[in-house]
Amino acid sequence: MTMKKFMSIVMSRRTGFVLFVLTFFCFCVVVFDSRNRIIEYRSQSIISEENRSIKIQNIVDQRRRDIKHEMENYEFPNGKFCRNISNLDDLLMEKGGRPMRSFLIAGWRTGSSFTSAIINSHPANFYLDEPLQDFGHVRIRGPLLVDAAIKNIHKFFNCEFDKLQHFIDFVKPDQWVYNDNQGLWPHCVNQRDLCSDPIFLTAVCRLYPLQQMKFTRLPLESAQLLLEDKHLGARMILLVRDPRGIMQSRGRLEWCQNSTDCSDPQVLCNDMVSDHKVAVELKKKYPHTFKVVRYEDLSLNPQHKAKEMFEFYGLNFHSNVEKFLDTHTKNNLGDSYSLFRDSKKAPFHWRNDLNFSEVEEIQRVCSTAMKLWGYVLAVNETHQKEFNPIVYNYRRF
Ligand SMILES: *[C@@H]1O[C@H](CO)[C@@H](O)[C@H](O)[C@H]1NC(C)=O
Ligand SMILES: *[C@@H]1O[C@H](CO)[C@@H](O)[C@H](O)[C@H]1NC(C)=O
Ligand SMILES: *[C@@H]1O[C@H](CO)[C@@H](O)[C@H](O)[C@H]1NC(C)=O
Ligand SMILES: *[C@@H]1O[C@H](CO)[C@@H](O)[C@H](O)[C@H]1NC(C)=O
Ligand SMILES: *[C@@H]1O[C@H](CO)[C@@H](O)[C@H](O)[C@H]1NC(C)=O
Repeated sequence: MTMKKFMSIVMSRRTGFVLFVLTFFCFCVVVFDSRNRIIEYRSQSIISEENRSIKIQNIVDQRRRDIKHEMENYEFPNGKFCRNISNLDDLLMEKGGRPMRSFLIAGWRTGSSFTSAIINSHPANFYLDEPLQDFGHVRIRGPLLVDAAIKNIHKFFNCEFDKLQHFIDFVKPDQWVYNDNQGLWPHCVNQRDLCSDPIFLTAVCRLYPLQQMKFTRLPLESAQLLLEDKHLGARMILLVRDPRGIMQSRGRLEWCQNSTDCSDPQVLCNDMVSDHKVAVELKKKYPHTFKVVRYEDLSLNPQHKAKEMFEFYGLNFHSNVEKFLDTHTKNNLGDSYSLFRDSKKAPFHWRNDLNFSEVEEIQRVCSTAMKLWGYVLAVNETHQKEFNPIVYNYRRF
C-alpha cells in the first residue's frame, strides 16, 4: 500500500466521521427545536385552556350571586301548590336540590312564544326554546323517535350538555334556542363559541332554581311519559289554539310548506283530537302537574290567565311578570315573531287574513277537533268577519 492510498483512506474516514458528527448535530438541533416548539405550543394551549376555564368560572360565580340576589325575599311555596319547597337550596342542583321544572307542549305558531315569554319573565329561570330542533321539521312520533326525544329532554333538565353534542352542533349556526335564556345569551351574543361549549352550558344550567322549556314537536301522547317520571318532578301545560289561526300564521313560514306535519291541517287536527283524548286522562291522573291553556283565553285575559299559570307551577307572580304583561299586551309592534302586541287581537287575525274558501277548507278536516276544544265554525264570509269564534264553556280543564 502506498502512502498516498493510505492517506486517502484515512482522509475519507475522517471526512465520513466529520460528516457523521455534523449530521448528528443538525439532527439534534432539529429535534431539540421541534421539542421546544411542542412544549411552547402545549404551554400556550394550556394557558388558553386555563384562561377559558377562569373566564367560565368568573361568569358562573357572578351568575350564582345574581341568582341569589334575584331570589332574595322570594316567597317559597312551603307546601302550597303541592310544592314542598322552603328555601333556595331546595332548588339548587349544586346543593343537592331539584329545580322547579316546567314545560309547554305546543305546536308551531300556537302562541307558544308569547306564552313562554310570560313564564320566562320570572327571574332566575333557565329557559330553552324548543331544544328538540335537531329532530328536524317533524312532529315526533313512533317509539324510536319518542324514546330519543325523551332521553334528550332528561339530559336537558339534568344539565348534561356533555351528552348533547348533536344538539350543540345543530344549533351552532344561529343558537336562537338560547336567545331568551337570561343566563346564557348575554355571554353568547358576543362569544358564540361559549354557547357551543358543553362545560359552560352545564355549569350555567346547574345554577338555576327554575327550568322551563318549550316543545313544538311533541304531541301530547309522546310528552305524557315526562309526567310519569317522579324524579323529574316537572309540570306540563298543553297550549291549544284555533286551527284556523294556526294555519293562517303558518302560511307565513317558508320552511313550513316543505313539511306535511306543519302545512297539512288534517295532520294538525288529528293531533288535536288525540291530544284531547290524552288530556282528559292526564287531567284525572295528574291534577297537580298537568294543565290545559287555550291561547285565545290567555290573550283575552292575560293578567288573570297568567296568574293561574303561575299558581299551577307554584311560582310567585313576581313584579317582573306584571311589568312584562303591562308592556307586552297593549301595543302592536314588530314582525310576526314579535312579542309586543295587542294581545286581544293577535289570535283573531285569521278572520280577516284568510278568505272564506280557505277557512272552509280547514273546517272540513278540523270540525271534530274544533268542537272538542270549543271553537265555532264560520258559516259564511260575513259571519266569519263578525262572529266570536270561541266557546267559553267548552269542556274545561
Ligand atoms: C390569557 O389571559 C391573559 C390575561 O387575561 C392574556 O394576556 C393572555 O394573552 C391570555 N392567553 C391566551 C393564550 O389566551
Ligand atoms: C317536606 O320536606 C321536608 C324536608 O325536606 C321533609 O322532612 C318532609 O317530610 C316533606 N314533606 C312532604 C309532605 O313531602
Ligand atoms: C323546500 O324543498 C325544496 C325541494 O326539496 C328545496 O329546494 C327548498 O329549498 C326547500 N325550501 C325550504 C324553505 O326549505
Ligand atoms: C282565497 O285565497 C286563496 C289563497 O290566497 C286563493 O288562491 C283563492 O283564489 C282565494 N279564493 C277566493 C274565493 O277569493
Ligand atoms: C251568513 O250567516 C249568518 C249566520 O248564520 C246569516 O244570518 C246570514 O244571513 C248569512 N249571510 C249570507 C250572505 O249568507
